[in-house]
Amino acid sequence: MSRIDQALNIEDLRKIARKKLPKPLFNYIDGGADDESNVLGNAHAYGAVKLVPEYLVDVANIDLKTKVLGREISMPLFLGPTGMSRLFHHDGETAVSKAAAEAGTYYALSTVGATSIEDVASACNGPKCFQIYVMKDRGLTREFIQRCKDANYDSLMLTVDIPVAGNRERELRYGFTMPPKLNLAGIIGFAARPGWVYRALTHPQAILANVAHKIPDGSSQSTSLMEYIATQFDSSVTWKDLEWMISEWGGPFVIKGLLSPSDARKAVDAGVTAVSVSNHGGRQLDGALSAFEALGPIVDEVGGECEIICDGGIRRGTHVLKALASGATACSIGRPYLYGLAAGGQAGVAKALELLRAEIERDMGLLGCTSISEISGKHIA
Ligand SMILES: Cc1cc2nc3c(=O)[nH]c(=O)nc-3n(C[C@H](O)[C@H](O)[C@H](O)COP(=O)(O)O)c2cc1C
Repeated sequence: MSRIDQALNIEDLRKIARKKLPKPLFNYIDGGADDESNVLGNAHAYGAVKLVPEYLVDVANIDLKTKVLGREISMPLFLGPTGMSRLFHHDGETAVSKAAAEAGTYYALSTVGATSIEDVASACNGPKCFQIYVMKDRGLTREFIQRCKDANYDSLMLTVDIPVAGNRERELRYGFTMPPKLNLAGIIGFAARPGWVYRALTHPQAILANVAHKIPDGSSQSTSLMEYIATQFDSSVTWKDLEWMISEWGGPFVIKGLLSPSDARKAVDAGVTAVSVSNHGGRQLDGALSAFEALGPIVDEVGGECEIICDGGIRRGTHVLKALASGATACSIGRPYLYGLAAGGQAGVAKALELLRAEIERDMGLLGCTSISEISGKHIA
């Protein structure tokens, strides 16, 4: 399998990405924390619930549209934030945001993206969210919020599951850390993919574009920027900061990375529009609940009071349907579109979205549903 048009599913795109990317980069996408039990566990969790189809329903016309974070999207799935996407393909975040816009869905740009808030806004006319952290320098956080307002972002997403960095051993094995200190295995990994190296050398360097102006002229190399951002992550953030940020932004707001119903309650009380139930794709606290396992109790606590996004392990349309039937408003993905990006740039991301859209549509027909609002608890057991 080497061509994206031959890919039948997300796993096929993953295999192409593995062939194209230097090992340190493939492992950066693919890996997780500690024993990585949550990486596979996120996807396997959907297996614990079974779908209950109903037949002799007219499913000739199926409508996948739904609404999330103030915008209508063409299907109940969008692209979550991932740092430094330009490492995986030289068109990076621009390609991802364009593919999302063409597919009619949301794209969430990461604070640690390699394309700026403004450049994504000019590339992408679809729904846009900016994923933010509360930085030690609150002035920088305030600046991000103002830049998002000026660039007409639709929503803001605060990620809260990085109070400290997760232990990702695949990254340590290659010295692919923040900032990178590649060891011999890392250097060999890059040398084995001369095509990637050639493209990296013939395109602008991937840097932390949103903070590039924070480093004095002449030293804005990716290493100095990574050193800078590493000092900015704040381990002392609390619920007070959330309230402050919601009021600074004043628009649709999602808190990402919750697994506990009591945290979801606090978030709703603070005024969030949406809760993203997530364990950061298994990259932070290994052995935590999977997103799907955490979803039900969170729906029981705050369902109907805010939108609920299920984020983690979505590899099939049936996973999306199980999440919706359990009470999620929509789902988001990370790795599936990064595999597509690495496999074929914008066309690869579009392929990932097409595959998942086709699966969701076919599976809704098989389940006996013609609209997202028809999917409910009676469809799972
Ligand atoms: C390579 C990579 C980088 C990521 N970077 C970020 C990030 O900058 N901010 C964030 O909130 N989540 C980040 N995530 C987590 C994703 O937004 C999402 O929660 C996770 O990928 C969902 O699981 P999935 O990959 O199984 O779809 C990243 C995930 C990956 C794989």
